[in-house]
Amino acid sequence: MAEYTVHKLGQLGDGVIDDPMGEIFAPFTLPGERIEGDVERGRIAAAKIIEPVADRIKPACKHFKICGGCSMQHASDELLATWKVDKTKEALSLAGLTPVFRPIITSPPQSRRRATFAAKRTKKGAMVGFHGRASDTIVEITECPVSDPALMAGMDAFAQFARLGTSRKAVLRISATTSLHGLDVKIENGKELSPTEIAQFAQIASAYKILRLMWNDDVIAQSDPPSQAMGAAQVVPPSGAFLQATDAGEAALVSTVLEIVGNAKRVTDLFAGCGTFALPIASQAAVHAVEGERPMMDALNAGWRNAGGLHDVRVETRDLFRRPLMIDEFKKVDAVVIDPPRAGAASQIAELAKSDVARIAFVSCNPATFARDARVLVDGGYELDWVQVIDQFLWNPHVELVAQFTKQK
Ligand SMILES: C[S@@+](CC[C@H](N)C(=O)[O-])C[C@H]1O[C@@H](n2cnc3c(N)ncnc32)[C@H](O)[C@@H]1O
Repeated sequence: MAEYTVHKLGQLGDGVIDDPMGEIFAPFTLPGERIEGDVERGRIAAAKIIEPVADRIKPACKHFKICGGCSMQHASDELLATWKVDKTKEALSLAGLTPVFRPIITSPPQSRRRATFAAKRTKKGAMVGFHGRASDTIVEITECPVSDPALMAGMDAFAQFARLGTSRKAVLRISATTSLHGLDVKIENGKELSPTEIAQFAQIASAYKILRLMWNDDVIAQSDPPSQAMGAAQVVPPSGAFLQATDAGEAALVSTVLEIVGNAKRVTDLFAGCGTFALPIASQAAVHAVEGERPMMDALNAGWRNAGGLHDVRVETRDLFRRPLMIDEFKKVDAVVIDPPRAGAASQIAELAKSDVARIAFVSCNPATFARDARVLVDGGYELDWVQVIDQFLWNPHVELVAQFTKQK
């Protein structure tokens, strides 16, 4: 076994050794640490830490390292915060941009409101957990310091669904989301259920405050609607629809977006989802919300109508990759919010860059595509005023951010 010093963290949070033979990746190690281990295909899978650094901390969860959910519980909050901001700065600097960064905002433990569990039948009954690190095996979990306790409270029900609703080898994929009054659960890969089984599952759902239970392609139980608060409105998202990962993260994103939008009277919200930004903005401005998924637009529209008292919200289902809003469609718009998926929004940004919209709130979950798109806006005459990193993915390499762009007429 050879000894090495870890130089930095890679994009996915593994320690990286700059070896003369090429980079070596060592999971669960930190910059500055002396480690020992065997290199296999550029990796030291199980490094022994000879000299730890002060930023190494005791993991919060007993399942850490085996469970694939978290990869960074061995690092201090300060190290993770600096690393996430630096990763974002680095991506922007590669695009020639060096904006001001505001201090990072990080969601607390036990705040993740969505999780995808795996469950299967066993000889003794059933097991529920998360997939193991880079593997298909299920790691049975009894605690999860990341997840909202309300999510974990569903685990007994998930085990019962696995015991009663799977064939011997099948693995259930269970997507659970907290809502205002109970859980919203979508289960895939289950066997076909008889009417008696459906009634039994509905009883289990009711006992565990699962408000909506979707089994394969059908809602098989629904008591109250699984509503989400969005500004002054309540929205019932389609089962499994995108929502921000934590309430705290969403609140920080919304208040930052509202600050950028300022006193704009006409706002366009692109990649609007179910209305995370459109509905809070509608308390003060008319909104044109555009999104590719019709069921999400329908949910937003229903939430807006039921709320009453909000400014006009016009929804449009549109594929913004193929049919971006054109420059003419921004003529009477004071501010744009854009929150694309990880791929970014190349074709939409190309049009937006040519516009005279005074203020843009850009929300992104991928610093690399954000940097590419930000460059196009800056080349189109926009100023990148500042970037705010908002970390909703504790102990995980994911980064989320909001940035303010402005253009003087
Ligand atoms: C990161 S989510 C943001 C959603 C919303 N802004 C929120 O915060 O809840 C990205 C959204 O883009 C939508 N989307 C993905 N590809 C799209 C496309 N080609 N055209 C329009 N919308 C798309 C997804 O359905 C999803 O709702």
